[in-house]
Amino acid sequence: MKLSSANINVLVKACRKAAKTLIRDFGEIENLQVSLKGPGDFVTASDKKVEKILIDELQKARPNYSILSEEIGEIKNDSEYKWIIDPIDGTSNFLHGIPHFAISIGLEHNGEIVCGIIYDPIKDEMFIAEKGNGSYLNNQRIRVSSRSKLKDCIIFTGGPRIDSENRDLVLKEYKNFSSKVLIPIRKMGSASLDMAYVAAGRCDGFWQRNLRYWDVAAGIIIVKESGGFITDFNGENEYIRNKTILVSNAKINSEMIEVLK
Ligand code: 2AM
Ligand code: CA
Repeated sequence: MKLSSANINVLVKACRKAAKTLIRDFGEIENLQVSLKGPGDFVTASDKKVEKILIDELQKARPNYSILSEEIGEIKNDSEYKWIIDPIDGTSNFLHGIPHFAISIGLEHNGEIVCGIIYDPIKDEMFIAEKGNGSYLNNQRIRVSSRSKLKDCIIFTGGPRIDSENRDLVLKEYKNFSSKVLIPIRKMGSASLDMAYVAAGRCDGFWQRNLRYWDVAAGIIIVKESGGFITDFNGENEYIRNKTILVSNAKINSEMIEVLK
């Protein structure tokens, strides 16, 4: 089985095209690590190039849809539909030559995410979902894990950044979680892939503060359609507004909220 609605096909085509540039540029990074200047400017240029390919492709197929994208911001149109784009999620991994990053695009309809794609071009893993039609990894249906005790779970998080205003709070939350799980907490460096991994049952739960809408937009539908839960740290629905996101299988959500209280 596979997902193949018109909008999904547009997303897949745009991602595959942009991924060619992304993979080629990633191959250059290793050489740049040893250069005096480092790969910083190259990565910024690559990010913008990938974004441009994605936007050109999406606009060609859907000229009237609005766009929100990490680098260029908003392109407003009168449509009820909006693409939410993160051209490279996991930029620091990309910059350091670590092969764990993704293109992430969600499609919003009247304020609700209705389909999404998270594509890891190095592992050639494509996570897609559409409202009501399930979540898929490379055309195979995916489901969240069924682990029910937090102690036995593998948990992901990210942050805090050096300039984060709630650094101490984030570290306290980390400490609390680390005293509850047998397997040490993972920090993989790409929030979109963290969410995709929860959807695929590879990871049981993920929490993070201060993410932006484009980091999580595609992940929202991919997690929901795989049977997962998404809430803020209070267990409510305000994870975008509150900038606290908790993603998990259906069984450990409340235990995770307890830890965050
Ligand atoms: P990026 O690579 O697109 O910047 C790393 O923990 C993950 O969090 C990445 O997915 C990174 O996205 C994202 N991220 C974005 N803004 C962040 C912030 N203010 N603090 C921590 N992580 C952030
Ligand atoms: Ca991002």
